[in-house]
Amino acid sequence: MIGRLNHIGVATPSIDESVKMYRDILGATSFTEKWSMPEQGVWVCFVDLPNTQIELIEPYGEDSPIHGFLAKNPKGGQHHVCYEVDDIIAARDDMRAKGCTVLGTGEPRIGAHGVPVIFVHPKDMGGILVELMQKPEGH
Ligand code: CO
Repeated sequence: MIGRLNHIGVATPSIDESVKMYRDILGATSFTEKWSMPEQGVWVCFVDLPNTQIELIEPYGEDSPIHGFLAKNPKGGQHHVCYEVDDIIAARDDMRAKGCTVLGTGEPRIGAHGVPVIFVHPKDMGGILVELMQKPEGH
């Protein structure tokens, strides 16, 4: 059973340009530093909003999994949504039992928030790439 919406993932060709848009046009005031996650092939920066976060992701390296997305969406766009779950292993097994495709090996990886995550294929999720993340302590 899904819990809180944790964040919305937005792919961008330039986190720096996206931060300017969120700050100067939309008026967002709180951003994390930009950092790289080489194993995931992305640069990441979070925009803090009162009730959720926007996760800005920019390709890192030649093999970044979001090069393909940006080839189809050159200006960037909504890439995934992330919901919190109580138990990531139980959630993964539940998704598979219900016939959904969990991406990769299905072994949870440590995501940008430092907790395990999995991704469920958009074909099973109404066309949306869904990230499920272990609920962080205190949420
Ligand atoms: Co995410």
